[in-house]
Amino acid sequence: MNALPSTTLQQGTALALRSRIARAFGRGAASYDQHAGLQRQVADRLLAMLPEPEPAMQMLDLGCGTGYCSTRLRQLQPAASVLALDLALPMLAVANRQLNAAPAQVQMLCADAQALPLRDSSVDVLVSSLALQWCSDPTAVFAEIQRVLKPGALALVSTLGPASLQEMRAAWAAVDAKRHSNEFLPAWQLQQAAAAVGLQLQLEQEIWVRHYRSLLALAQELKGLGANVVAHAQAEVTTTPAAFKAAAAVFARGLQPDGIPVRWEILCLALRKKPQESPR
Ligand SMILES: C[S@@+](CC[C@H](N)C(=O)[O-])C[C@H]1O[C@@H](n2cnc3c(N)ncnc32)[C@H](O)[C@@H]1O
Repeated sequence: MNALPSTTLQQGTALALRSRIARAFGRGAASYDQHAGLQRQVADRLLAMLPEPEPAMQMLDLGCGTGYCSTRLRQLQPAASVLALDLALPMLAVANRQLNAAPAQVQMLCADAQALPLRDSSVDVLVSSLALQWCSDPTAVFAEIQRVLKPGALALVSTLGPASLQEMRAAWAAVDAKRHSNEFLPAWQLQQAAAAVGLQLQLEQEIWVRHYRSLLALAQELKGLGANVVAHAQAEVTTTPAAFKAAAAVFARGLQPDGIPVRWEILCLALRKKPQESPR
């Protein structure tokens, strides 16, 4: 039998990873809102970057989860049409229950941010909070954002930078050589990816610190969100109770009066498609 070409293997790995991510977030859908304190704060921070909206716009919430940003977009601009899109169907089911309890409807779409089933130049405002870091090909996401935005339109995207969860990675690194947490792209790589597809970018970068009682508390938060997949690993990362106990002991060395501090590097990107040049 002939060997598969490496691009086919890469595509196969990307597909397998994408379905693991969709399954994990699907499992987290019912408990997501209970654990989403940080996610709410990041979304609020991102939405504060929205300029005054214009009436009757088409808005897109990319990687909507349980629909927090979609709800806020509807409140900010009741006449707008909002499309809530996510890879995980159970997330959309929760979003649908919450959003469509309100009188104004929001459309739901189960799709991949890296291959949007949307027309070119059809979106006035795009918001995407903490979904980009789950996409194996951020350049593909930016290319899709560039394609679906109307000329001159704005996309607000939040994601995590490499300082995030370093304390957890350091604790595990003392125990084994496996990758127990995602690695996040640095801002400069996102800047390059945005420039490569022709999007203009303004970036805001902040380090937030949250305190946890233990490694178990942090792991339970990630699991409750559905965010307990290592997004670049070839397969599920397995661990033993003894290894977890050892990592928890290293993590606990950082204990302070408020708990164990963990950094989250929050990147908020304002991406703008260039306006159409008028014919001379
Ligand atoms: C951390 S949650 C954020 C949800 C929501 N934006 C919020 O702020 O609460 C990440 C979401 O991105 C979705 N997601 C991950 N990869 C995706 C992809 N390739 N395309 C679309 N959605 C994706 C997940 O299913 C999940 O609902």
